[in-house]
Amino acid sequence: MSLLEVKDIDVHYGDFLALRDVSLNVEPGTIVSLIGANGAGKSTIMNTICGLNKPSKGEIIFDGQNISGKKPHQIAKAGLSMAPEGSHCFESMTVQDNLLMGAYMAKGPERMERLEGVYKLFPILKEKAKQQSTYLSGGQRQMLAIGRGIMTQPKILLCDEISLGLAPVVINDIYDKLKEIAATGLTMLIVEQNVTRSLQASDYAYVVLEGKIVMEGKSSELNEDEVNDAYFGINSFA
Ligand SMILES: Nc1ncnc2c1ncn2[C@@H]1O[C@H](COP(=O)(O)OP(=O)(O)OP(=O)(O)O)[C@@H](O)[C@H]1O
Ligand SMILES: [Mg+2]
Repeated sequence: MSLLEVKDIDVHYGDFLALRDVSLNVEPGTIVSLIGANGAGKSTIMNTICGLNKPSKGEIIFDGQNISGKKPHQIAKAGLSMAPEGSHCFESMTVQDNLLMGAYMAKGPERMERLEGVYKLFPILKEKAKQQSTYLSGGQRQMLAIGRGIMTQPKILLCDEISLGLAPVVINDIYDKLKEIAATGLTMLIVEQNVTRSLQASDYAYVVLEGKIVMEGKSSELNEDEVNDAYFGINSFA
């Protein structure tokens, strides 16, 4: 059974139809990626799943519950955590406090255990633990955003634009970490614009074009040239 099932959703911003008949599935223990150009609708899909946008049609089933129309905090409580695009954090708080915020509902020892888990994954965050988050570099912020997501011990972690504005070497490092996280059994839905990287990092991928899913498949079986054509809306059968 799918952990997350998006069924035929439409999403409007005013009169603008941003998503049309979008359906996708995320099986437990897998990394699924959304690929698409700027403005394709990737963030809209992510934001709708976590309750920031309301679909005007269709439904979203998470862990057996219909979460369509639920509030973001209810969805978070059900076990869905989102590391948003642009990696927002509480700037004036320390790195450690930002991480601990992610696990505010857990008991003391449990929180510290999760914190150590995140520090093991991202040792740089341990080094910067007492620093104000505002001084973190772009890559470190992404790590903090992912770390905070993990602190909630979600059933699924959504990561929007992990590699935005980062140097390739930092991106590789973050993707290596994601594989490590996935190996612990955490399920992930990620957004990645780079086709090669997206296919390498995921088990299954969806290509989004102008608010619609135009291609999907196992990442290892998708043809990169065909994905590129779909990404740019080039009809390869024309
Ligand atoms: N709050 C909003 N109000 C009105 N239109 C919006 C809003 N948010 C997004 N849109 C529009 O919806 C479409 C999809 O935007 P979205 O942010 O989902 O794209 P994206 O695939 O995440 O792009 P990017 O790769 O640039 O982040 C775009 O045309 C965008 O202008
Ligand atoms: Mg986006």
